[in-house]
Amino acid sequence: MFHAQILTLFPEFFDSPLSCSIPKRAIAAGIVKVDTIQIRDFATDKHNKVDDSPYGGGPGMLMKPGPVVAAIRKARQIDPATHVVMLTPSGTRFSQAKALEFTEKPGITLLCGRYEGFDERICDYVDEEISLGDYVLSGGEPAAMCLLDAVIRLLPEVLGSPESAALDSFSEEGILDWPHYTRPEEFEGKRVPGVLLSGNHAKIEKWRDDQAALRSRKRSSESDDE
Ligand SMILES: C[S@@+](CC[C@H](N)C(=O)[O-])C[C@H]1O[C@@H](n2cnc3c(N)ncnc32)[C@H](O)[C@@H]1O
Repeated sequence: MFHAQILTLFPEFFDSPLSCSIPKRAIAAGIVKVDTIQIRDFATDKHNKVDDSPYGGGPGMLMKPGPVVAAIRKARQIDPATHVVMLTPSGTRFSQAKALEFTEKPGITLLCGRYEGFDERICDYVDEEISLGDYVLSGGEPAAMCLLDAVIRLLPEVLGSPESAALDSFSEEGILDWPHYTRPEEFEGKRVPGVLLSGNHAKIEKWRDDQAALRSRKRSSESDDE
């Protein structure tokens, strides 16, 4: 069973996304176990303080090393082989390849920041720093949930058809999924491409490959222009 531990100040954030659809089924089937650990439980002062102001001045507060490192140690004590991932905008960009790499770990621990982020020394206690993209979220929880969802759907036996994940966008580097259509055959004057109604499987497969390649090239030239 794949074991995910989430270190967070807001464990309740995960209740809803883990209680529907694919994550819910994966948990019920015993393929994945998700536990949250409340970082505040590791605060040592009487006010349970987990944040403090930055040395050198400046706005906002930072997550103090003491409670966060104690929470990481707890996760490693529960699961000594866990791979500890800090969610941070300055980390390596998350990708489908990274999601697949994480499925091969015995388990992961996702460290969620809040406020202006972490005291830099906390980085020495994690295995990897991951960013979801070049934008700033209010906290690591939405990033951790996206990452976990992408990992869960790649775990063996989670998807009804194992082919689904293999055909998803990015399962081959840089290659997007092809366009899909369902009923009705015509919607507000827009018709389903005729080849998909032809029943000719070789032609359909070629059309899909061509469309996927076209989209992927378009996307790649758009990112080159940025
Ligand atoms: C408000 S952000 C801190 C942003 C930080 N001051 C900066 O500019 O890089 C608070 C927390 O949200 C999480 N976070 C925000 N954006 C993220 C992103 N793009 N990827 C992963 N985590 C993110 C991190 O855990 C971060 O510590």
